[in-house]
Amino acid sequence: MDFPIFHLDGMGNRMLIAIIAIIHVMINHPLAVGIYPLITLLEWRGKKQNNEELDQFAKRITFVVFLITTSLGALTGVGIWLSTSLVAPFAIGSLIRVFFWGWFAEWLVFITEVILILIYYMTWDRWKEGRAKSWHIGVGVTLSIMSWATMAIIVAILGFMMSIGAWKEGSSLLTAVFNPIYLPQLAFRTTLALATAGLFTWFLIGLIPKSQQELRLQMTRLVSGWTLFWLPFWGLASWWYMSVVPEAMKGLIPLGMMTQKFITWQHAMLWASVGVISFIAVVAAAGLFKPKWVPRVALLAPFFLGIALLGHFERVREFIRKPYVIAGFMYSNGVRVDEVEFYRQNGILPYSTYSSVTKVTDDNKLVAGKDLFVISCSRCHTTAGMNGIDAKLTKLYGEQWDEAQMTAFVRGMHLSHPYMPPFPGTEQEAAALVAYLVDLHENPAVIEGAQEVGIPHPIGVAKPDQPTGRLDDGNVAAALPEILKQAERTLD
Ligand code: HEC
Repeated sequence: MDFPIFHLDGMGNRMLIAIIAIIHVMINHPLAVGIYPLITLLEWRGKKQNNEELDQFAKRITFVVFLITTSLGALTGVGIWLSTSLVAPFAIGSLIRVFFWGWFAEWLVFITEVILILIYYMTWDRWKEGRAKSWHIGVGVTLSIMSWATMAIIVAILGFMMSIGAWKEGSSLLTAVFNPIYLPQLAFRTTLALATAGLFTWFLIGLIPKSQQELRLQMTRLVSGWTLFWLPFWGLASWWYMSVVPEAMKGLIPLGMMTQKFITWQHAMLWASVGVISFIAVVAAAGLFKPKWVPRVALLAPFFLGIALLGHFERVREFIRKPYVIAGFMYSNGVRVDEVEFYRQNGILPYSTYSSVTKVTDDNKLVAGKDLFVISCSRCHTTAGMNGIDAKLTKLYGEQWDEAQMTAFVRGMHLSHPYMPPFPGTEQEAAALVAYLVDLHENPAVIEGAQEVGIPHPIGVAKPDQPTGRLDDGNVAAALPEILKQAERTLD
């Protein structure tokens, strides 16, 4: 709330982050983390068997991986920072204070990783013989460890965000590492990365031309063995991970898998996942024992299927965090859990630096209501786009919208719909929000975020001729007692 609010009214803010983050994970897991151990293994195998063709194929995989990770991978990595800082600056602001050194270390490790990839690729043909080749393989091993380390750090932060109560137990990188979700999630992601690296390599093997049939069969056998080896570990890690996800979050999995409308399809979804995994296992077994039987398309398809599954998993994981952005500490709309009661009694508008009014009156109801929508709902809802509020309300109430009933809904929506945070405002503010929603239904209008309309004048710095009408009316000293009182209450 204490940031000017960025808002995308069509695709929705969540979708912006989701698209970038899911592409990133799809690249990062198989290509930045899982594949270096596999490539190094192939190189080692090539050396042992004195197989130049195998060696050169491993080099070619490295080149493709390098291109994709340093372009699309790096771009989406930075994109996650940019989009989350725009949509949820309050959450990033809180996390970066706790995880400053973690992220700093992550940055160092990442830079080291990129340098190592460069060295690994560029010295491939130069460090070819005897000892030099062993050194080269050593670089591959180091690279594998470094790329896994980036994941190990980030997963600590992700686990912390999902772990209810983590913040209260003292927030540091150490508490994050020791939170109960950490190891299971790391095991899950590590084995997933290793297995999906196999799927990506299958895809490249599928592209080997007919003229190199011998190489294709040999590679199919090796990489199928790799994939088949990791699948059971991944299964075990998934089970371990599921067993530590908090119950409240598990309850949201069906809704996360599908939207409300399709909630009954969750079994179909589950079976589709089982189907994909079984198909991959069958191809891997065939590839290991009878590589000749495996048609090319069977090597190409698993990558896309696996990637779809991985994307879907991330979507569900993100969904079940609701209504929190940081579990137990901060709701998705940036309101801290311990602040909510205060706002419900005293109102949120007087404490929202960038809202256009501080108090609901008969004259400003619609303006106040719009601000309240932006503050408390717009992180997850648009007006008429993705998860559009108008359609949601129409589905709920048909064409008979009763304002009193809707106000009661808003005040209690966190109880009836636990994936939504409590409305952080008074009864009067809830009524203003509803008045705005009713007006929006009759006169649809797009909400433009701060990135379009600019940043309104914040509290305490009003121009002399244009009083803000806020608590302090431009006078910080006068407002101080009230601000301190609020700070004290939230600190309690
Ligand atoms: C944390 C994200 C989040 C926030 C914040 C949020 N909602 Fe929701 N809301 C959702 C999701 C997700 C759905 C369900 C979408 C679906 O149908 O699958 C939903 C559904 C709804 C529905 C339809 C409920 C039903 O039973 O069909 C209404 C009405 C609604 N929200 C109103 C609001 C209002 C008003 C606010 C702000 C005061 C708000 N929401 C804030 C995520 C959120």
